[in-house]
Amino acid sequence: MSHRTRDDLRVGGVVVLTGAGISAEAGLPTFRDAGGLWEGHRPEEVATPKAWAADPELVWRFYQARRARLGAVQPGPAHHSLVQLETRCQRAGLAFTLVTQNVDDLHQRAGSTVLAMHGQLRRLRCESCGNAVQDADSLEPNRFVPCAACGWHALRPDVVWFGEVPHGLDRIEQALLECGVFLSIGTSGAVYPAAGLLSVARAAGARTIVNSLESPENLHPADDFRPGLASEVVPALVDELTADLRLPR
Ligand code: OAD
Repeated sequence: MSHRTRDDLRVGGVVVLTGAGISAEAGLPTFRDAGGLWEGHRPEEVATPKAWAADPELVWRFYQARRARLGAVQPGPAHHSLVQLETRCQRAGLAFTLVTQNVDDLHQRAGSTVLAMHGQLRRLRCESCGNAVQDADSLEPNRFVPCAACGWHALRPDVVWFGEVPHGLDRIEQALLECGVFLSIGTSGAVYPAAGLLSVARAAGARTIVNSLESPENLHPADDFRPGLASEVVPALVDELTADLRLPR
């Protein structure tokens, strides 16, 4: 494995992709590790436009439970280390892009600038007029939130459901084409297009480093796999990259 330094990176930059594993230690269950059912449904079955049309009360209860949980959790060491990495890259004039598949707001609360490609639990959106609002307080499981702009009876969670297009794909692709280091943290590499970012970065010549508990589905022999808890692996990795890329502390 070649360990390139900043001097080797003609067009360098750091791109980080995170998944549910980075928030697991905070107390938010991942999708595929939990293997559990919610009210007899697989989480994936309630995360679709079809489910929302067929049984909005059920889908709303599912998301209200997840929205309520956010109030009880805090960002962990891995979230905080990525803020450090962002700051150090900025100081060095190196592009830094953090992309998350997570719909929690732990990166945002830690202080990162983040592209939330699957949307955010703490935003609600009107399917009738398109108005979107930040809302962390309406947490009643059985009460819809009406749209203040047009009066529509039920806002939906502003998250990307299966069959919908993730946010920011053009920006993400641009960052990948220019990246020298790509980190994949806490994702099983099972859901596309997010799972494809690793191979795009690899093909673009980036050094690819992967952390999760088990080997993700999209792992390639050329990737530098660092198994273990994100709370331990990511802070060490940020220190290592700080040295490798000669970033100011
Ligand atoms: P998954 O639940 O599929 O994968 C979680 C990954 O995190 C696994 O690879 C675990 O090994 C790893 N993991 C668990 N605990 C960890 C820890 N403490 N430290 C490091 N790694 C840990 O979650 P995602 O890959 O994020 O999409 O799921 C991708 C998408 O599937 C989600 O964004 C969601 C879901 O359906 C939508 O809702 C559109």
